[in-house]
Amino acid sequence: MSPNQKLPVVVLISGGGTNLQAIIDRAGTDLPIEIRAVISNRPGVYGLKRAEAAGIETAVLDHKQFDDRESYDRALIELIDGYRPGLVALAGFMRILTPAFVRHYAGRLFNIHPSLLPKHRGLHTHQRALDAGDSLHGASIHFVTEELDGGPLIVQAQVPVKPEDDADKLAERVLQKEHQIYPLAIRWFAEARLKLDKDGHVRLDDKPLPGPMVFEDHEPIG
Ligand code: GAR
Repeated sequence: MSPNQKLPVVVLISGGGTNLQAIIDRAGTDLPIEIRAVISNRPGVYGLKRAEAAGIETAVLDHKQFDDRESYDRALIELIDGYRPGLVALAGFMRILTPAFVRHYAGRLFNIHPSLLPKHRGLHTHQRALDAGDSLHGASIHFVTEELDGGPLIVQAQVPVKPEDDADKLAERVLQKEHQIYPLAIRWFAEARLKLDKDGHVRLDDKPLPGPMVFEDHEPIG
């Protein structure tokens, strides 16, 4: 990609799409990407309206119309590949992906997860952080591999847990951070600064990351 070209991106959602909105907003300013399509596995979700309002093509591929995970993911690959993305961004896409799907997009598939991975993989992360008595919680962006919520970490944002927190209050503060770190990771990738190498290590500016970058309310690197 030449410096003036924009990275084609497809975003997958299942719900409200606030992370999608953050990406859309930044694509209008400093993110060198073109969102080619937003695809949802659930019809009628608000994220689709956000995409339409921004003039982005949308598609629904309803998982309930398929007999099994394999046939759904095969259809999803076909749909996504029609848009020729350089990056596929899972933004609240609440499905477990087949190994074939993950392999197909190896090195160009991002996920956002609402915990400080490797803590609290899976669902109900905010309640689980509270139940565990964690003093720090947060969100992570990672490359997707076959291990659920287990792929190499790119960047995390931390949120202190307050004594008065319940799961909703904590989720709200984590979400604010999510909206900052997802566009950041996408920007690094779009600028070809971020890569997953053949050994499964994340490289930023040609140096292996010893661990995830930690986001501190300002962008850690230029
Ligand atoms: C976000 O909190 C995201 O981290 C989470 O779903 C929410 C989607 O919100 N993703 C997962 O839990 C994936 N395992 P949004 O639709 O408002 O962006």
